Formats: sequence, structure tokens, C-alpha cells
Amino acid sequence: MLIRVKRGWELPEAAVTPEAAYLDRRRFIGGAARTIAGAGALAAGLVGPGAARAETESYAPEDDPTADLYPVARNDTYTVERPLSDYRTVATYNNFYEFGSHKQIWRAARSLPIRPWTVTFDGLVEEERSVDIDTLIRTMPLEERVYRLRCVEAWAMTVPWSGFAMKALVDYARPLGSARYIRLETFQETFADAPGFRQFWYPWPYIEGLTIEEATNDLAFMVTGLYGQPVPQQNGAPLRIALPWKYGFKSAKSIVRITFTEERPVSFWEEIQGSEYGFWANVNPEVPHPRWSQATERLIGEDREVPTRLFNGYGEFVADLYEGMEGERLFM
Ligand code: MTE
Repeated sequence: MLIRVKRGWELPEAAVTPEAAYLDRRRFIGGAARTIAGAGALAAGLVGPGAARAETESYAPEDDPTADLYPVARNDTYTVERPLSDYRTVATYNNFYEFGSHKQIWRAARSLPIRPWTVTFDGLVEEERSVDIDTLIRTMPLEERVYRLRCVEAWAMTVPWSGFAMKALVDYARPLGSARYIRLETFQETFADAPGFRQFWYPWPYIEGLTIEEATNDLAFMVTGLYGQPVPQQNGAPLRIALPWKYGFKSAKSIVRITFTEERPVSFWEEIQGSEYGFWANVNPEVPHPRWSQATERLIGEDREVPTRLFNGYGEFVADLYEGMEGERLFM
């Protein structure tokens, strides 16, 4: 249930105060009020230890059986220089085409039944198997990570995800040595009623893919939570991925099947328009999309533009994955 509470950072002076003073003030407000993480104590460069927690507002699915697991401790390896986007913005401005091709799908997405929910591991694995999502989540080492999210539409957010390293999932699946790629499939098979499926010109279900090397890179993250609570449907409950060095469309939501394969999967957007949405889709300010220059990005909820960075600023973690691959369209 959504409880609407006016929070500290909704003060209008953000629009007229110089950024440094504004962030300081937000820090003060956050420390004093402690109403919700995302207030100033977590502002630029100040994202410190401890999990982000929404205490006065919730978009978490009702009666989520894993709610007792959150909040989880933050992994501080991945720091960001920006304020967290506020919880309401992250949970109400979404791309989830299964529920409509606009940003206001969050209420419609709440109709997605997320229990029971089974994740199937198949393809090139020692043994094909399906696991109940609660068993999976309770088996995995949960942590919180604050990541930048950069959409190919040139907007961005900064998000406190909870979940576990994708490497742990790969280990759990026990792929064969011949597996080179991972294909992720979303829920059409189990819930065909989502309104987007009536848009038959889209190649449902939503598919994404990545190499085993990308999946086992430290940054690749399986998301089960948001803002210290179970992740809401509109953000991909009960299981999505977060690949912060790639455009957001690579971060498939509400995953039901994980297939290990020798062949490179063709993703949903690649199938629709391969010249605009490639397999690699790494963020690069110097490679424009036909409709969006990628030089800058708009911070949703803050109304300001900032320069975009190669690999979305995560080059130190991922650049070596792409050495010697200059012949590939790595950035679109
Ligand atoms: N996953 C599914 N299943 N369906 C989608 O339409 N949209 C993608 C990605 N994952 C999408 C999806 C796109 S385009 C983006 S930018 C991100 O989800 C947005 O994630 P958010 O809504 O949590 O910000």
C-alpha cells in the first residue's frame, strides 16, 4: 500500500540554491529528520555505510514473503558522486513495455502476480532445474549497491538496489564449460494478461543477453530489492538485473528463465531495430543514437543535465572486458 508523506527534499529551494549549499542543506535535513534514505545524508559523495531505507513510504509489493530480509548492508565498493534519486521517482517513472509504452505504467504493473514465481535454469547447465524465488533469494548473499542507471533515452537516476552478484547466480546454475552467453527471459509464459502483450508487433517475451564474462564481472547484479525493501513490480519484481555500464534496456525485469547457450541471444530491442539497439549497448557519450545525442543526460527528479561518461563511469571495472573487440559495435 502506498502511503503518501511529504518528505524533506521536496522543499522547493532546490531550484534556486547553488548545488553545494543545496546538498549541504539536504544533508542537514536528512540527518535531522531521518525520514527516508535519499534525503541529504546520502547526497553526492556522501553515500555512506548502511542501507538506504524508505521508512515512511512504500512501493514494495504487499505481503512480500522476503520482506524480513531487508534492509541489507551496503557494499561500499561502488560509490557514486550524485544524490540518490528519490524513492518515489524511481518507483513511478519506469520503462516496462509489458505494461505500456510510456513512463506511467507503475500502477498497471502492480497487477503482475509475483508469487508463486519460479526461475528456470536451462540450456548448457550440468542439470536443468527450476527454483522457487523465495528459496533462491534466501540462498543468496544479499547486499545493497548504489548504481547509476542510464537509459538510452538520455535520462538517468541513481538507485539503491538490493540483491546479489550475478556471479553467485551463475555459480548456482552450474553452467557447462561450453556456455558462452546467458539469455534472460521475462514472464510472458506465466502471465499473458499484461496489456503490452496485445501490442503484437513487439517480439515478446522481453529477452536480454550478455556474455559469461560480463555476467561474472563484479558489477553485474541481480536485483531483488529497492530502497531497503523488496523491489516493486514496476521495477522488475521479483528478480531483475542491473548492468550499470550499459544502457538501461539491457537490465531485463521480472525474469523467469535463464538459459546458458553457445549462441549470442538476440535481444528484444535488437530484434525490433538492430541498427539502433545492439547487443553490447555500453554507454558512450561519443556514439549518438539516431534520436538521442548521448553526450549528456537528464537527472530525473532533479531537472539538470550532466555530461555522460564512457561506460557510465564504470570503466575501471569493465573496460578490460572489451579489449581487442574494436571490430564490434560495442556502444550501440
Ligand atoms: N524489462 C522488461 N521486461 N520490459 C521492459 O520494457 N525496459 C528496460 C529495462 N528492463 C524493460 C525492461 C528499459 S528500456 C529500461 S531504461 C529499464 O528497464 C528501466 O528500469 P526502471 O523502470 O527500473 O527505471
